[in-house]
Amino acid sequence: MHDPRPRSVSHQKPPRNPAPSTVGRSKAVTLKERPAAPRFERGQVTLELGDSLQLYPTWGVPSVIISDGAYGILGFDGDTSDHLGLARWYQSHVRAWSQAATAATTLWFWNSEIGWAAVHPLLEAEGWRYVGCNVWNKGSAHIAGNVSTQTIRRFPVVTEVCVQYVRAAEVDGTPLKVWLRQEWKRTGLKLSQANIACGVKDAAVRKYLDQGHLWYFPPPVAMEKLSRYANRHGRPDGRPYFSLDGQTPVTAQVWKRMRAHFRCPHGVTNVWDRAPVRDEERVKTPSGRAVHLNQKPLDLMERLIASSSEPGDTIWEPFGGLFTAALAALRLGRRAHAAELDPTYFEYGRRRLAGG
Ligand SMILES: C[S@@+](CC[C@H](N)C(=O)[O-])C[C@H]1O[C@@H](n2cnc3c(N)ncnc32)[C@H](O)[C@@H]1O
Repeated sequence: MHDPRPRSVSHQKPPRNPAPSTVGRSKAVTLKERPAAPRFERGQVTLELGDSLQLYPTWGVPSVIISDGAYGILGFDGDTSDHLGLARWYQSHVRAWSQAATAATTLWFWNSEIGWAAVHPLLEAEGWRYVGCNVWNKGSAHIAGNVSTQTIRRFPVVTEVCVQYVRAAEVDGTPLKVWLRQEWKRTGLKLSQANIACGVKDAAVRKYLDQGHLWYFPPPVAMEKLSRYANRHGRPDGRPYFSLDGQTPVTAQVWKRMRAHFRCPHGVTNVWDRAPVRDEERVKTPSGRAVHLNQKPLDLMERLIASSSEPGDTIWEPFGGLFTAALAALRLGRRAHAAELDPTYFEYGRRRLAGG
């Protein structure tokens, strides 16, 4: 029987689309003069006017990378027009982050839900391990009754995501969990002696040397105990045991850098109820227009940095905009490297850090 409903999938040849635009929606302001200098430093924070891809090789090793780049919404010149081009847009950046990262690096990846979904496979393929997805809920103030749901034909979106990744830790290409068990085996000691080494009933074998889902990263103090015991009582011809450099057994201090720092403030969950940036916090033109559509809340950037780094650590902000992450790093006593391609955004961001 003939179905009168229009088919959703056409088998006819699709019409040829013109190349998608990458010109951002209208900017509130474009300064006529270029910034006096392409580089600005305050404390241990450096802002640069330029392409972060070219600058990464000159930046110090990152403890934290905060990515707030393309969203597939033409949010700035160079953004894509939908999520389909996002993986390609991020490809070279993600590769560079992977090359610069250590076992202690955290990546925070801001995006829309679909934008993140489009880039996640790339992040995984480049060795980033998913930890958690945080939802920034801007609340209904974000749409302020302006949305016609009959036109958009979906529920209005008032969220963004900020997804936490760490590196899949390994020693010379061997996953940490496997390496720990291998090293203990090499010593010729019985498994149960690992418990004696750590001064616990059975936790060392059950957690640190487990090869299944019960495996648990040995805390630095426990790791130092395991390493000391192994090197004192293990077969002499196999020493050193538990050495990352092949010379010296690992200490608590060194082991600490084998995973990313994380400390959750009391009461914080993965839903961040926070109104959009407005009023005093919004960087505005003299006529009162928002300079950058994508300016992020300073307190959320501070939350990311405070939870995943320690004073003196280095933060990367490859897509600076108005440099909110760099400002947060400055306020929290971290080092930072940040870049912005657009001279107007760079200049407004520079002024913000100079005065902030
Ligand atoms: C989403 S906005 C960042 C907003 C920023 N988080 C803030 O709070 O102001 C992304 C910015 O990255 C810049 N950008 C895009 N590609 C870049 C690149 N390769 N190097 C430096 N900046 C880039 C864009 O010009 C844009 O201003």
